[in-house]
Amino acid sequence: VETEDLVDAAREAGIEPVELFVAGENVEPEVLAVVSTLGHAPRVVGLFRRADLPTGRRNVTVALWRVGDPGNVGTLLRTTDAFGAALSLSEGCADPLGPRALRASAGAVFRVPLVPWEETEGRRVALVAHGGVPMGEVSRADVALPLTLVLGSERDGLPESLVTQCHLAVSIPLSGDAESLNVAAAGAIALYELSRGAS
Ligand SMILES: C[S@@+](CC[C@H](N)C(=O)[O-])C[C@H]1O[C@@H](n2cnc3c(N)ncnc32)[C@H](O)[C@@H]1O
Repeated sequence: VETEDLVDAAREAGIEPVELFVAGENVEPEVLAVVSTLGHAPRVVGLFRRADLPTGRRNVTVALWRVGDPGNVGTLLRTTDAFGAALSLSEGCADPLGPRALRASAGAVFRVPLVPWEETEGRRVALVAHGGVPMGEVSRADVALPLTLVLGSERDGLPESLVTQCHLAVSIPLSGDAESLNVAAAGAIALYELSRGAS
């Protein structure tokens, strides 16, 4: 984990690094420059164990189907954190612990439980770009907790076989010629709507 901010986020979440490298203190700055994925070498690099990351359940889980862009996975980690939700990733999703996802998560990776795909709970609601129930018309009963919101890949969306396994398919109405929303934007809107209570 690169940069002081991310290492601090981990510590604030009660997760201590196995090792901490601080330029000029216990490591030469040039060494951090070699291992860094950033344009400018960080002053601090922390080494963490995957096994120390949060586990557990939340009332709402956002499940991503083959979302391959690490920026989207990281952004959705940050968004699920903001709404008290958990995240689940299918096979084929970007690594949430890769450098781009970590940066986009802004430390949320240390707070959001990652739920195995086959262990997601409650009703499954598919978010589909076209043909679902308009989000404003979804009733409270349809989104009773616990709930899993399922979102699809950037290019192909959700396979029909997965949509039919869901309790409900919901679409966020778009105006004009817009084809679809970015998956992270769709997830944020859905979580916000859920947080204010469906109609
Ligand atoms: C970029 S979209 C995929 C577009 C793909 N061509 C399709 O038709 O599904 C990625 C994901 O974001 C979500 N999404 C995008 N626009 C949406 C909308 N208007 N309503 C609900 N979900 C949406 C869906 O989960 C979708 O699978």
